[in-house]
Amino acid sequence: MGSISDSSIKGGNPKDSLFFNLPSTPADEPFAVNGAYIQDTDPQKVNLGIGVYRTANGSPWPLRVVADAEKQLHQASDVNRHEYLTIQGDKKFLKLAANLVFEFENPENTSLASGESEDKDRVVSIQTVSGTGANRLGAELLARHIRPGCVWIPDPTWGNHHTIWDLAGVERKNYPYYDNNLKKFDFEGTIRTLSESANKNDIVILHACAHNPTGADPTKEQWKSIAELCQAKGLIPFFDLAYQGFASGNLEQDAWSIRHFFNFTPRLEFCVAQSFSKNFGLYGQRVGALHVVNSTGCTETSQKLLANLCHLVRGEYSMAPRGGSEIVRTVLGNRKLKSKWFEDLMTMSGRILEMRKALYDELIRLQTPGGWSHILTQIGMFTYVGLSEKQVHEIRSRHHIYMLKSGRISISGLNESNVKYVAQGIDDVVRTVH
Ligand SMILES: Cc1ncc(COP(=O)(O)O)c(C=O)c1O
Repeated sequence: MGSISDSSIKGGNPKDSLFFNLPSTPADEPFAVNGAYIQDTDPQKVNLGIGVYRTANGSPWPLRVVADAEKQLHQASDVNRHEYLTIQGDKKFLKLAANLVFEFENPENTSLASGESEDKDRVVSIQTVSGTGANRLGAELLARHIRPGCVWIPDPTWGNHHTIWDLAGVERKNYPYYDNNLKKFDFEGTIRTLSESANKNDIVILHACAHNPTGADPTKEQWKSIAELCQAKGLIPFFDLAYQGFASGNLEQDAWSIRHFFNFTPRLEFCVAQSFSKNFGLYGQRVGALHVVNSTGCTETSQKLLANLCHLVRGEYSMAPRGGSEIVRTVLGNRKLKSKWFEDLMTMSGRILEMRKALYDELIRLQTPGGWSHILTQIGMFTYVGLSEKQVHEIRSRHHIYMLKSGRISISGLNESNVKYVAQGIDDVVRTVH
């Protein structure tokens, strides 16, 4: 055992290590902001940085339906509950997860022409380590086997898209996603950039709903144009679906873009990275799936696709974890639990809508300079509130209100007790920091 003075000596000469020349890496901003918030001892501090749901009391919320499913699983006490899954994952879970995205079981889904393969045969699904893992696995598959010229990433986007595609070794280019003046999706800029500069087999990252960080989504008409453009130019759409049901409370509405691309004629080929972190509140359980859509649905292609995905997974982590996916499978496979889940989704999305309205009303009451209606029209957990980096810095140091330097706020960090305080903080920095 070393003495106290021994342990205070922090190792030998750093240059003696093989790892001395490792590059420095950027800190992940949401987690760094969260860490700074935790360290802050001010009693009025407010955390609008991290993208997690919080109740009206500011606490985490294990969904009621998740507690029910956990109880059921505990009571069943299945002896297999800690066994390995297959490399592909839990097939029942995957079927239910794919159905949530594509809605194969709705009899009104009439896109099938006679003689064509069944819709569901076009989709190859594999369980992943949540949405991040699905993005990463899809990137790896495409990087290795399609070898795209580049990936088009919306500017701005969820920061991890850059890390994921950088690690996959694919050149990254941006398309202009957000119109800062109009505070909405930059449709013209997106279409212009992709029309003029994207090439066949380039990847295009698309947020299926509730764009992170802006909360600004394309309209249905705009989605139709994006699908046409992808088809005309031979681009490969890559949907990131992290907020289905959480965004609007309506599963169908939040998956509309993906279903439109799926039913597009001529057929498109694309990926969907599905996360259950937000819509089930299973953040740390890491539940997700990657769905790869091919145009033919022929058995040979599907088998090859699945084999290649399994090969990548086996070499990385063998298979996704089973604890969380069993909860999701239990809920989605049971009519009663599923309708309770819909209620929970309404609770979460409803509270977020209320907080959008409360923040907006307060800024209007304070006559805070600027336009604020985007807080109401943007959707989902996040809003680009419209503060500059300097104002974000000041609101943190003066008022202990934490957000990303882009001015992204997580609406779920607001509640009845802090929304007036936050509005006053915004009002202060808008008036005094230029
Ligand atoms: C756009 C987007 N994609 C993917 C994810 C992945 O989340 P997870 O890996 O927790 O499922 C998130 C989470 O914040 C997100 O906002």
